[in-house]
Amino acid sequence: MAIERTLSIVKPDGVQKNLIGEVYRRFEQAGLRIVAARMIQLGQAQAEAFYAVHRERPFYRDLVSYMISGPVVVQVLEGESAIERNREIMGATDPKKAAKGTIRADFAASIEENVVHGSDGPDTARNEIAFFFAQSDICPRRR
Ligand code: CMP
Repeated sequence: MAIERTLSIVKPDGVQKNLIGEVYRRFEQAGLRIVAARMIQLGQAQAEAFYAVHRERPFYRDLVSYMISGPVVVQVLEGESAIERNREIMGATDPKKAAKGTIRADFAASIEENVVHGSDGPDTARNEIAFFFAQSDICPRRR
């Protein structure tokens, strides 16, 4: 077990449904610390670049349109096994398959509009954090 950092996004549907506080409450209750956070309106090129790994997937265009349909809140979460912990809190990508009590089971409308994004591994976490935050944006917790 190790202290990790991971990138989390409250997606446009989560912001629209006023779930920012509820999502943060779940992170904090699970012992994850928010060490950087910002609300942004993604542009087309930025959303395309962030999801470039899905470029060939049939849902890519719809995914990009959805991600630019309203503001998102991006944050860096830190804590013991933060990458896996965040994935447990979010639940499976498809809300129909997400475990009871997870964010997606409780609030997601569909496999696409699924409220939150979280990095899926250490390399992705490093790249996704750097996509949104400079090192100087991250505030180590000293108390
Ligand atoms: P996310 O975890 O951000 O990673 C890719 C996103 O693509 C996913 O959440 C969904 O919002 C979206 N998506 C839409 N359709 C699918 C699909 N069939 N499989 C996986 N992801 C999908």
